[in-house]
Amino acid sequence: MGVTGGIAAYKSLDVLRILQRHGHGVSVVMTHTAERFVGSASFAALSGREVGTALFGDAEQPGYHHLDVNDGMDLMLVAPASANTISQMASGAASSLLTSCYLAFRGPVVVAPAMNTSMWLHPATERNIATLRADGVHLVEPESGLLADGAVGPGRLAEPASIVDAVEAVLAGRAGTRDLAGRTVLISAGGTREPIDAVRYVGNRSSGRMGWALAAAARDRGADVVVVQANVDLPREQGIRYVDAPTAAAMRDACRAEFPACDMLIMCAAVADYRPVDAADGKLDKSKADALTVEMERTTDILAELSALREDQVLVGFAAEHGPEGLERARGKRARKAVDIVVHNDAAVEGAAFEGADNIITIIGPESEQALPRMSKRDCAERILDAARPLVEALASRA
Ligand code: CTP
Repeated sequence: MGVTGGIAAYKSLDVLRILQRHGHGVSVVMTHTAERFVGSASFAALSGREVGTALFGDAEQPGYHHLDVNDGMDLMLVAPASANTISQMASGAASSLLTSCYLAFRGPVVVAPAMNTSMWLHPATERNIATLRADGVHLVEPESGLLADGAVGPGRLAEPASIVDAVEAVLAGRAGTRDLAGRTVLISAGGTREPIDAVRYVGNRSSGRMGWALAAAARDRGADVVVVQANVDLPREQGIRYVDAPTAAAMRDACRAEFPACDMLIMCAAVADYRPVDAADGKLDKSKADALTVEMERTTDILAELSALREDQVLVGFAAEHGPEGLERARGKRARKAVDIVVHNDAAVEGAAFEGADNIITIIGPESEQALPRMSKRDCAERILDAARPLVEALASRA
């Protein structure tokens, strides 16, 4: 585990503790800057191993430490990874023990960045992160929140438990597949809002979390990802292109424009089925009437429309249904909209579906159905991509 300089360095003590609790042996390497934030003695005491800081040995133990440190290691984790260390890793500089270990290490590498929002969003950092991804490094995205400098935004080190999850996913071979490299995945996310007047709308409770999870999973598997998003209030991630489409009509236009270039469309957005026929120009005045009737008209079913237009794209739809007959309705949607996969989820289950972090889905494919237990939206996303990827391969080999 490499620790670099930053306020978040103290959190790596927690990461170390959780890793040990899970039965992993951990050796720590620190940069000199990291030592200004946390003492190497803390890591040495917790890990029960010597902490590496110097690139070269001394009179008692001559040699190149980076080669010794790597010996017998299954994985390298850098947490927190500062902008500076990320830049050195991306360029292949070997100026510290940590970056030398990185260059000399042949196993999987997980990097959990932490820095101030402006540094994280700087084009130079974005370039370096893209380079690391392309080099096969697994990124644990920083979270959004209150940072040490009082600013609010992305850049805060991911929670220690999430970092350990990422490490274990890589160790278990659940991560690191770049099986969507060279593919373009189009994902719609969020919920559309259909205006009634200048300030009011008819909307739905979709948070966009499922679409965001799908986008991150597809990106991490090497795909070029385009997200057509409606009213999602979640931080945007690097390595993903976003197109804003707040209404059903805008979403239809954006999806139609992006569709020809994609290999897979995942229609995850909750698109309004009806919209007010005429949105009032100004604000409706309640003193004018005791009751209000809004006439609604059907919107275009984007998924069905694109399915009719498709050439060699794989189509995945969602069906958020209420109650026990939902599964049968979802099967019907797969046939009616002529899509390859429909992901059913029971919108009636508390904590799952809309705003929750988890989901309970059944993946209805052309050959089989998979009813999955409750799991995180990220895990659901991986399973959906697992089901859709072979269909993309099959189309590609036919072409
Ligand atoms: N969908 C779409 N365009 C619409 C409505 C829905 O592309 N105007 C897509 C959704 O993104 C989802 C799938 O169709 O992938 C199913 O949406 P849902 O609203 O559950 O199904 P409907 O066909 O609208 O059926 P119903 O409302 O009758 O349940």
